[in-house]
Formats: sequence, structure tokens, C-alpha cells
Amino acid sequence: MMTNYLFSNHDTVALAEKYGTPLYVISEDIIRENLTKIINAFTKQNATYDINYAGKAFLNLAMCNIIKDMGVSLDVVSGGELYTAYMASFPMERVCLHGSNKTVEEIKMAIEYNIGKVIVDSKYELELLNAICEEHNHVMRVSIRVSPGVEAHTHEFIQTGKIDSKFGIPLKQVRDLFDFSKDLKNINIIGLHCHIGSQIIDEEPFLVTAEVMLNLMKELKEDGFSLTELNLGGGFGIPQMRHDASFNVDQYIEKLMSTVRRICSEIQLEVPKIVVEPGRYTVGTAGIV
Ligand SMILES: Cc1ncc(COP(=O)(O)O)c(C=O)c1O
Repeated sequence: MMTNYLFSNHDTVALAEKYGTPLYVISEDIIRENLTKIINAFTKQNATYDINYAGKAFLNLAMCNIIKDMGVSLDVVSGGELYTAYMASFPMERVCLHGSNKTVEEIKMAIEYNIGKVIVDSKYELELLNAICEEHNHVMRVSIRVSPGVEAHTHEFIQTGKIDSKFGIPLKQVRDLFDFSKDLKNINIIGLHCHIGSQIIDEEPFLVTAEVMLNLMKELKEDGFSLTELNLGGGFGIPQMRHDASFNVDQYIEKLMSTVRRICSEIQLEVPKIVVEPGRYTVGTAGIV
């Protein structure tokens, strides 16, 4: 007797017969369920927030359409992803461009498509972006990626927020960078960004990071820079094996928002818009081969 294996209520044997193998099956329902959990968690906390889906996890026209429909924003790291978003008629003001080595062409594309924001990784890139924007008579909104010096309890290869990480500006150099940015007329720095790693199950490293970043925002405010946005990156873990624990988004957002509100009140800082960038959590459980 033939057993039918269901994935997201679809008969996988019938799908394989119809489309052939190897076959990659991605469930729109599961993607929507995963994103809905994050949206509901923020809504429950009455937070000002944004979700930037990390397109590096999986991006095509259909994926752009799903997140567009759900009001989720998009983080891209290449000209190819920018082009995909553009071709999907994704609202480009909801796109932000990441990457530790953006090319001149990618920056020009970002300006041409009038995207919402660039996450800047280094002083060199800040100057480059400013120069290209000046040529195009454009002012770009920017967030500065910071390496906050927090070690997430995940595999060392996917830790990205350590002090010696190649990603972002080391914590101690951020104020100097902002000082330097004063002369750059074609960029408008609106926030800070960090991403401490991937496949994180424990909330604690995120909460410690939030505290580090808020204190930095406070210092920058004292230096005359009022920032409105704090992007804490992605990294929400998913079960890899049958009995693995899952990241509890609802609990995380609850703890995060209460931590952010408490610290902001202690240090007298306006509560910033909180942004998260879940890639793996959004699609990692939504596909099979
Ligand atoms: C800057 C940034 N944001 C978000 C993500 C998404 O991470 P994850 O898929 O673990 O949520 C990554 C992954 O490398 C990243 O580098």
C-alpha cells in the first residue's frame, strides 16, 4: 500500500509525480504563519516596530509578493535581490540594502530605485555612499551597523556581533564615525543596526545587545544625534532536529519590549522603533526537498 506524505496539507507524492524530482516545495501558509507570530507578538506589546524579512534566506517574486501583502519590509544584500524586489513591484521605500562590500553599481541601483535605507558597514562605505549620492543629488537614509561585542550562544561561525567581527563598526569607534559624518551632506543617519548571529534559541544575548545599543544611542544623543530606529537583526533559531527547542518569539518580544522600555525610562531616551530581520525563522520551516 502506498503511503501519502503530507506537507502543509499537500500530498508530496502527488507533487513529485506532477513536477518530477528533485523537487523543492515551499509552503506559503507556513511562511505566513511564521510572520504572523512575529507581527502578533509586536502588536500585543503595542510596539512601534518593523519586520525586515532577510531576503538572503530565500527570495523570488512570489516571496516578495507574500511579504508585500503582509506589510513586511525587505532586507537585501545584492543587486540581484534589489532587482527581484523591483520586478515584483515591491514598495521600494520598504527595502533596505545591507552588505559588507557593496559595489558602486549596487549603490547606484539603490539610489535609482529610491530605496528606503542603506545599512552602512564601514567608514569607507559611508564616504563612498555620500559621494555617489552627491553625484545623483540624492539624500539617502542610513543606519549604521555596529558590532556590539555580544557573543550569542550559537556556533562560532555564525556569530557576527563579537567585538572582532568583520561586520559593522566596533562599539568604541561609533561616536568618532558619527562625528565624521557631520560633514557628509548626502546621508541622513536615522538609526543603528546590529546582528549578533544566527540560530539563536536563548533570548538573553538579544536583551544584553538591546541594552548595549540603547546606551550607545543615549551617548550619541548627547553628542547631538537623535536616532529613531534600533534594528536588532535576525537570528531567531528554529528546530533543526525533531526534538530541538524552538525560539519563542512571543516571549522574546515581550521581554525585549519590557527591557527596551525600562532602559529607555532609566536613561531618559525616547523608545525607538524596534526593527527585526528574521530570515531563517521566516522560511526555514516552510520548505522541504
Ligand atoms: C544582517 C543580517 N540580518 C539578518 C540576517 C538573518 O539571519 P537569520 O536568518 O538567522 O534570521 C542575517 C544573516 O546572516 C544578517 O547577516
